[in-house]
Amino acid sequence: MGRIYTLVNQKGGVGKTTTAINLGAYLGYYGQRVLLIDLDPQANATSCLGIDKLGVKNGTYEVLSGSAPIAAHILHNPRLKISLLPSSPALSGAEVELIEQANREYRLREAIQSISDRYDYILIDCPPSLNLLTVNGLVAARDGVMIPVQCEYLALEGLGQLIKTLNKVRNKLYPELKVRGVVMTMFDGRTKLANDVVNEVKKHFPVEVFKAVIPRSIRIAEAPSYGVPITMYAPASSGAKAYNDLACEVLASDGIIITTN
Ligand SMILES: Nc1ncnc2c1ncn2[C@@H]1O[C@H](COP(=O)(O)OP(=O)(O)OP(=O)(O)O)[C@@H](O)[C@H]1O
Ligand SMILES: [Mg+2]
Repeated sequence: MGRIYTLVNQKGGVGKTTTAINLGAYLGYYGQRVLLIDLDPQANATSCLGIDKLGVKNGTYEVLSGSAPIAAHILHNPRLKISLLPSSPALSGAEVELIEQANREYRLREAIQSISDRYDYILIDCPPSLNLLTVNGLVAARDGVMIPVQCEYLALEGLGQLIKTLNKVRNKLYPELKVRGVVMTMFDGRTKLANDVVNEVKKHFPVEVFKAVIPRSIRIAEAPSYGVPITMYAPASSGAKAYNDLACEVLASDGIIITTN
């Protein structure tokens, strides 16, 4: 059975989408069948993979609202080695529409069930909020959540709130919800802040922190404008190396032995 991880942090711009795409791309590079689910009405993951979000007629919104089966709407691009359930701004309506519905927190989990054995990894990219969409992402996170944290002053602001939300979801909806690990992002070597932030995370929260630290890299920021992950845009860059390391770390701790071709 494949793994399902959800990338979550209600703080905006910390690297959730970038990590979902580039970790996903490296897992694909190592032969894993990867599905990325864009659970954000901003649809950044969709745009970053070169798809026009305004042209998406069948995506996460339609799947959550029950008007479309998930399997039919997954886009597969063999060149990118990653499949995508795209999003569109319509998804912002789901929050209001779902509120009336039974099982509203379990819609994504239920939708994924029918296809989860077709993939080795499903990565779910959440919006920067702790709303019903994110709760759907948390409840679907069968193997845990990954929390990108930006290496910066006040990085931990909001993490306490996130941990509280995870506990609420555990108490009310999904007792087995795990934290898979914190991913430190946008590390700037000149400031030496990363170690301080990692130590602070470890001091305050009983969570794993991945050893791979993602540097701030212009190449990482540029890749989306070409509609490709860093694996294709600049595989020799420091950012690519870091996401490669992260993928290897995830694979190793999931007990998956990789082969390259
Ligand atoms: N390691 C990095 N180096 C340089 N720029 C980065 C890096 N990681 C992310 N960025 C840039 O920072 C911005 C925010 O990243 P991203 O969209 O991944 O964050 P997010 O947490 O998904 O944001 P949101 O909360 O809005 O969904 C983007 O412009 C992205 O290209
Ligand atoms: Mg995002």
